[in-house]
Amino acid sequence: MRSRELSFSFVVATAFLIVVAAGGDLRADQHWEKPDEGFGQPISEEDLELWDIAIETPTGDNLPPGEGTVADGEEVYAERCQSCHGPEAQGGEDYMYGTMVGGIGTMTENPRVLTPGSMYPHAPILFDYVRRAMPLDNPHSLTPDQVYAVSAYIYHLNGLIDEDYVMNAETITAIEMPNRDAFIEDDRPDTANERCMEDCDPIGTVADADAAEGSDTEAGDEPDAGDAVEGEEVGGGGTGGQVEMGTEEDEENGEDGGN
Ligand code: HEC
Repeated sequence: MRSRELSFSFVVATAFLIVVAAGGDLRADQHWEKPDEGFGQPISEEDLELWDIAIETPTGDNLPPGEGTVADGEEVYAERCQSCHGPEAQGGEDYMYGTMVGGIGTMTENPRVLTPGSMYPHAPILFDYVRRAMPLDNPHSLTPDQVYAVSAYIYHLNGLIDEDYVMNAETITAIEMPNRDAFIEDDRPDTANERCMEDCDPIGTVADADAAEGSDTEAGDEPDAGDAVEGEEVGGGGTGGQVEMGTEEDEENGEDGGN
């Protein structure tokens, strides 16, 4: 019994050694014959271009050549988008997504209606988004002409451009988005606020207080105090709902403290 086991493992071990030795030799040979290979190869500029699709705003840099009309876009939309976004981009219960039209006056209301017309400060963002992510079931399948066209159609539905608009890298960059100034620069983590861990003011009231009293922070913080004023102007209506909800009574009750 014992000797059979021994000889069996001896055979296995020997076989293993032979395989390893042979493999080791082979690999060593290959290495010496082709010393430059082994860790892939340098990526070419051509390959990189396929991935380099981020569009700069507000300049529109990196928008590709091509163009499309509102009418072309209506066709692209019917074929490639309508099944999820509904007729005329109105969305709704029978579709996968809500409306992509309107909402332009709601930036300081609650609820805000966020659509490409209302929530993009720069028009080329729509091009970037659609080319990158849509149609959801087959992204990267549209040509630049098709993306220009369907972007024109969506902005036309939002009342931002005429029916005869021809969209290309120049014209899309020239569109003035209605809520362009309704955004503040997100410069986190550089913030003038001091961390508050207990007995904190309700969210949305700190900027108001700073703006009213003037800045009580140190001299170096001046530019940030300016930002806070801007944020208060713009977001005032939007955060108003939150201030109402987070009253002092709530804090005393402590029940909704987590919200
Ligand atoms: C298979 C379903 C589907 C198809 C087809 C589709 N979409 Fe979408 N789309 C979605 C979903 C879901 C979202 C929300 C995605 C998210 O929030 O991450 C979305 C979001 C969007 C948004 C952002 C809307 C906003 O208000 O922010 C745009 C713009 C958009 N789609 C355009 C298009 C266009 C143009 C086409 C056709 C070329 C298209 N979609 C085709 C499902 C789809």
